Amino acid sequence: MIEITDLKTTFSTGLFKKHTINAVDVVSLHIKKGETLGLVGESGCGKTTLGKTILRLVEPSAGTICFDNQDITRLSMREMRKIRPRMQMIFQDPDSSLNPRMTVAESIAEPLRQAGTKKQEIPKRVEELLTLVGLSLEHLDRHPYELSGGQNQRVVLARVLALEPDFIIADEPTSALDVSVQAQILKLIRDLKDELGLTCLFISHDLMVVRHMSDSIAVMGQGKIVEIGTPDEIFESPSHPYTKDLVSFAKNAVLPYKKESK
Ligand SMILES: Nc1ncnc2c1ncn2[C@@H]1O[C@H](COP(=O)(O)OP(=O)(O)OP(=O)(O)O)[C@@H](O)[C@H]1O
Ligand SMILES: [Mg+2]
Repeated sequence: MIEITDLKTTFSTGLFKKHTINAVDVVSLHIKKGETLGLVGESGCGKTTLGKTILRLVEPSAGTICFDNQDITRLSMREMRKIRPRMQMIFQDPDSSLNPRMTVAESIAEPLRQAGTKKQEIPKRVEELLTLVGLSLEHLDRHPYELSGGQNQRVVLARVLALEPDFIIADEPTSALDVSVQAQILKLIRDLKDELGLTCLFISHDLMVVRHMSDSIAVMGQGKIVEIGTPDEIFESPSHPYTKDLVSFAKNAVLPYKKESK
């Protein structure tokens, strides 16, 4: 579904843009249809930039991105607009993804309207999406400030699913949430992924969360993928020193979802 080859993303910063940051520094990876690739790595190593580059929200400086057997690296913005609904990104903080002035119903209807759904079909579709993400009709008229963080992240998910994507990038989708709510949202994402057959890139700095969610795991450090393997390979025989540190940290941490996964 996704095949990226030698992808590179650089940012120029500082006075006269003289300083360059290789945020994504020659990365190759692929994700099979219906599978989840977990991406872990320390803060600032380039995870979000890699995600955004795959969707071309940030432009790559080298390399290629193939989506569903189509090279999208050099498609014009107009051509990209046709493909975008099929590739969606969920960000860390639900508050920044939702318009505070819109009710839940308006928020979920917006992408449907933009995608050209017939006006009379929208209310029914909004209700379906609401149920799909575990919210109920009583939430329809509420604004983001009248909902919890977890409920807002469910609204974000409903908006993303409204466009019937094939591929989603979840960028630390639960890190702004209370630990008890994290487990619920992670379970919801996993169930939806199975039910809808989505392909997923799941980004987190937390190896335990990624293990719980992924078919395979890529470990990133300073813009490069340092190791890729199945969750068992990464946990039982990590080869890169950075992966070893992550694994020993994750094994020693006591977190609620660790208990739940048993
Ligand atoms: N728009 C930008 N302009 C300049 N530099 C940027 C920009 N976006 C990100 N960077 C830099 O690129 C590097 C990678 O950032 P990125 O946000 O991808 O990291 P991350 O792995 O997602 O970190 P975190 O876990 O904290 O979210 C960092 O050094 C960051 O400062
Ligand atoms: Mg990030």
